[in-house]
Amino acid sequence: MTDHKSEAEQRERIQTEVHPSADLVCRILAKQIADLIHTRNAKGNFCVLGLATGSTPVRLYRELIRLHREEGLSFARVITFNLDEYCGLSREHPESYWRFMHEQLFNHIDLPAAQINMPDGLVPRGEAFDSCRIYEEKILAAGGIDLQVLGIGRTGHIGFNEPGSTRDSRTRVVTLDGLTRRDAARDFLGEANVPRHAITMGIGTIMAAREIVLLAWGEAKAGVIAPAVEDVPRESLPASLLQAHPQVRFLIDEAAAAELTRVKTPWLVRSVDWTPALVRRAVTWLSLELKRPLLKLVDEHYAEHGMADLLVEQGPAYDLNIRIFNETQHTITGWPGGKPDADDTHRPERAQPPQKRVIVFAPEPSDEMLGMGGTLARLVAQGHAVTIAYLSSGNLAVPDEEAISAADLILGFVGELDAATRARARRVRERLCAKRANLALADDAETRQLKALLRRGEAQAALQVLGVPAASARFLDLPFYERGRYRQFEAGEKDLSVLLALLREIKPHQVFVTGAAQDPSSVAAVCFSVLATALAEVQKEPWWRDCRVWLYRLPGKTWSPYESDMAVPMSPDQLHQKAQAIYQHKTQRSQMPGPSQASQEVWSLAESSNRELARQYDALGLAEYEAIEAFARWVERERPRT
Ligand code: F6R
Repeated sequence: MTDHKSEAEQRERIQTEVHPSADLVCRILAKQIADLIHTRNAKGNFCVLGLATGSTPVRLYRELIRLHREEGLSFARVITFNLDEYCGLSREHPESYWRFMHEQLFNHIDLPAAQINMPDGLVPRGEAFDSCRIYEEKILAAGGIDLQVLGIGRTGHIGFNEPGSTRDSRTRVVTLDGLTRRDAARDFLGEANVPRHAITMGIGTIMAAREIVLLAWGEAKAGVIAPAVEDVPRESLPASLLQAHPQVRFLIDEAAAAELTRVKTPWLVRSVDWTPALVRRAVTWLSLELKRPLLKLVDEHYAEHGMADLLVEQGPAYDLNIRIFNETQHTITGWPGGKPDADDTHRPERAQPPQKRVIVFAPEPSDEMLGMGGTLARLVAQGHAVTIAYLSSGNLAVPDEEAISAADLILGFVGELDAATRARARRVRERLCAKRANLALADDAETRQLKALLRRGEAQAALQVLGVPAASARFLDLPFYERGRYRQFEAGEKDLSVLLALLREIKPHQVFVTGAAQDPSSVAAVCFSVLATALAEVQKEPWWRDCRVWLYRLPGKTWSPYESDMAVPMSPDQLHQKAQAIYQHKTQRSQMPGPSQASQEVWSLAESSNRELARQYDALGLAEYEAIEAFARWVERERPRT
């Protein structure tokens, strides 16, 4: 939590509050919005809210709806202005912001339609300028925006003001950045379907609001939050221009705060309590920062980088270097399931039992390959009983073209006699073709089933590349996913009971899972929270005492050497095999957004990510491997360490 007077904050040019969860932030902000509405209405005024779309505000809108339903909060005297809209999408298009706002908020509260304002994405090009001017005039006529809610894109955009937008820009048509379009590719089932243009309020329009709150969740935002808050404001990072606003706050969760100096390298900005984890972080950071192997650091290096007190407390450098070198060395193992018959005092996994029951959870098919394909292959090769539990079917991420060609294949294959199968394949095909003309159509159950089957086939092909028996895969198809759409997922009791049943059946010694630090609306984060609830429920069961939970992360966000409790090296051949396995996920090629590279395919992103991690271990002076996959041990707050 934030101490606003702290020295750490001096580096921060925007008031930034870090909270443990997005839900908590949204409860606090919704309450503030309710108070603002009451205050404005009590004085006889309308309350004017500037609203955002995207994953970020979904929880805020849920909480506002709750306040309306349960606590009588009325929006009758509220006027809203949305930040932006894609150009060229009809209101009914599943990804139009008009539809989003109505589904997520407007349809559930008593806000009169006449008081809703959204940029018109369908306005003809020749009329766009006037339409934008009228939008600005409407904001002025309403008395200006009292409170503007913002999200932030990975380019640092606010609204759709991409890098290069000027600080005095106003509502206008803009071209979307390549990274923004890649980030949206999933929602639109392919980058090619993402509109190239949008209408957005300008930075000047946003800055004219009386108060601004920017929200950000999840590890993907950490890299842009830190410079927006700490660097000199510049037009190449639009969110940093908010520093000039007198009433702006960033409300973020811990994952989005990870790159702030006070979180990442706190010893540089305040005196710290030198816990073992922090010492490892600081010494490793120093070595990587100075590009000097751990064993070559000397006292001056420590003293010159905010660690003089560490030297006094736990030094000299020689001792610290050796300690951290050994600690890091002990995390590296080629035996992710434990090495049978070996002394395991300094190994990340215990030797007993020699053959473990392991569950690898994949929120969507391919996550397990991307995050831990090399480790998965080793676990199987080393004789552990591995179950790969695919939590969602992943059917939402299958492009229509893939399903159409699958339907064609079925039609060609079954021949005239199998009338029922033909009819099904035809229905799916026709529906998908109709979707081309009417994008508002959502996939029906049959279509989703076909798409899910495609992903199952790919998952099985990938497992085969790694030599994992087909029977190891369980496709759980959690109901929250089958019912839902992106951003609208809500897990429930049924999801929980599926996971509880699996855990109780297998009674694993090891669980591998990802998603802990992702955007809470993402499939991975929803899956993680269901699993965390399930694990909390089994805590009293005897097998649980002998179960370890390992967190893996996806390419581009791998654990750093100082965060990792287990690092599993890969040879060039093993890395190649992993890439081949990822390659089997044919429907997903080019779909996963990379950090910045325009055309990096998923398998090559995974390769470079694992290679980069190995390079860091090498730079620390440890052995030089081709590639490494890293894992952190998850110890739930209340859970006693086994
Ligand atoms: C949405 C908007 C954008 C989003 C940003 C983050 O109206 O203006 O700036 O806030 O792209 O998107 P999410 O929340 O989906 O990560």
